Amino acid sequence: MRLLFLGDIVGKTARISIAENLLIIKKKLSIDFVLVNAENATSGVGLSVSHAKLLFESGVNCISLGDHAFDQNEMINFAEKDSRIVRPINYAKFSPGSGFRLFNLESKKILILQVLGQVFMKKPFSDPFEAIESYLQKYSLKSNVDAIIIDFHAEATSEKNALALHFDGKVSVIAGTHTHIPTSDTRILPNGTAYQTDLGMCGDYQSVIGMEKTEPIRRFITGMTKERFRPAEGEATLSGIVVDINNDGLANKISPFRYKGLLSQSGME
Ligand SMILES: [Fe+2]
Ligand SMILES: [Fe+2]
Repeated sequence: MRLLFLGDIVGKTARISIAENLLIIKKKLSIDFVLVNAENATSGVGLSVSHAKLLFESGVNCISLGDHAFDQNEMINFAEKDSRIVRPINYAKFSPGSGFRLFNLESKKILILQVLGQVFMKKPFSDPFEAIESYLQKYSLKSNVDAIIIDFHAEATSEKNALALHFDGKVSVIAGTHTHIPTSDTRILPNGTAYQTDLGMCGDYQSVIGMEKTEPIRRFITGMTKERFRPAEGEATLSGIVVDINNDGLANKISPFRYKGLLSQSGME
């Protein structure tokens, strides 16, 4: 099975790129399943229902969210209704929707989990290690699921490294989201889990993590807020990974994927 997993979609330029290019990419790279993080797809804050629908119509199979999961109010109902939306398992005790979702891909069962980190995050989320462990007691590779993919939505590279090495061999893929900058440590861990500390964002990289640069720079220099952040609108790079998962649920190959825009290196153009 071949997975394309894209990092945080930021604003309109990334939504347009997904709508225009995803079906072409899927066909050209023989992608079986597309997971995208879309916590910043609507004006940089959360995900609206119409934008979620656009992503699904463009060829996305599953959408994960993050600490911005419910910034758009309408996601509160939609996350309950649409089983293709995954919010973090440790977001809050009574959050709407679910942090784990099962998908059937022909005869294969794919489990998607999203979990939030604790280090340098604005809110105190519960222990991600314990949260994942509780699901792995119910689901395991080679017994009741064929692939387990974890979106670890966290700030600190150390926390992401630690969690990935701890669960190495028990899941197919662990990839980080949230920082919006791709890391170059793409690899298969010793026991067979595909890993990259952060996938980077799908957005305009001539920006401050996806936002038009003027206001963030002003805030760093003056400490004062003048305007709202708004997503930069230059051409987006779609950034993520492509992973081949074996029949035993472990990874056979992982490659970084960066398509169009400033960071393009996909070799597809
Ligand atoms: Fe985030
Ligand atoms: Fe984000």
